Amino acid sequence: MVCSITRRASFSASYYYRLPELSQEENEARFGIQARSPGATFWLWVKIIGPVDEYGMVANLSTQVKRSLRRYILKPLDGRNLNEAWVEFAETLPTPEWISHTLWHRLKPHLNVASIVVSPHEEVRAEYLGNGMEARLTIRTHFSAAHRLSLPQLTLTQNSEIYGKCSRPSGHGHNYNLAITVQGEIDPKSGMVVDFKALSDLIENGIIEELDHRFLNTDIPYFDKVVPTAENIAIYIRDSLEIPIKKLGASLYKVELHETDNNSCEVYGNSVIDSQTGLQNLGQLTQGSMSTPAPVSNSHPASV
Ligand code: NI
Repeated sequence: MVCSITRRASFSASYYYRLPELSQEENEARFGIQARSPGATFWLWVKIIGPVDEYGMVANLSTQVKRSLRRYILKPLDGRNLNEAWVEFAETLPTPEWISHTLWHRLKPHLNVASIVVSPHEEVRAEYLGNGMEARLTIRTHFSAAHRLSLPQLTLTQNSEIYGKCSRPSGHGHNYNLAITVQGEIDPKSGMVVDFKALSDLIENGIIEELDHRFLNTDIPYFDKVVPTAENIAIYIRDSLEIPIKKLGASLYKVELHETDNNSCEVYGNSVIDSQTGLQNLGQLTQGSMSTPAPVSNSHPASV
C-alpha cells in the first residue's frame, strides 16, 4: 500500500535577486525591492511517498522526517542569506521555484521526496516534483464581482428551482480568491519559470482589471450567453490567460477559484488536459498538486 504524507516546516532568511551584469538600478527596475535584500519566512510542504511500514507509517515523522529537515534544510538556511548559504543560490537566483528544486535535490538522498512546495508569502508558492527543471508557480490574487445565476429561457420559478437564491433578479456579490498556476522550465540564471513581474502584470491587467467590481452578467460580454457560475468564470479566466501565458514562455497549469470559504472550483489548462487522457485523470492531477487540501469542485449552491 503506497501512501503519501506531508510535513510542513519553515525557515526565515534574507535573499536578493541581482544579476551581476546589471547595475543596481537596472536590477531594481527588473526585480523591484527584491534586488535589495529583503527577508521572508519561507514555508515548506514536503511530500514523502512510499509504502506503509509495519509501524503504520510511510516515514517516521518525529525522527526521520523532522531530523532530516532540520539537518539538511532548516539548520543550514535559517537566519542566513540564501545567496551566500549554498552554491546553488550563488549560481541561480533563489526564487521560490529554484528553492523548491534545490531543497528537493538536497533532501532526496535522505527521504523519498515526491514534491516540495515553497511559499515566501501568501500570494506566491512554487512546487517542484522531481521532473528535470520543470516547476510550477502559483500567484494568488482576488477580485470582487456580482452575478446572477439564471437561464434566460426559463421562468423565475424554474431558475429558482435550479439556482435557489442565486437566481434572484438583482444579483449578489462575492469576494473571489483566485490562484493561477503556471508550469515551465526553470531558467538556470534567473531561477524563474516565467518572468514574475510579467506574469503578475498579465494577471492584473489581463483579468483582474476586467472582472473586478463588475456585474458579470451585463458587464462582461462572454456572460451574455454563459451563466457566470464559479466553474464558468474559472473557464473564462483560463481561456483569457492561456495564450498570453504561452507567449511568456510557460503553460497555464491550473485556475483555482474560491467563491466563498466553502466553495471553490479548479480547471486545468488545455495542455494539461491534452497531456492526460481527459477528465477522468483529474483526481490524479489533484493529488499531484497536493500543496493544499484539495478543494471540492461543485456547482453554485443555493445557500450562498
Ligand atoms: Ni453567487
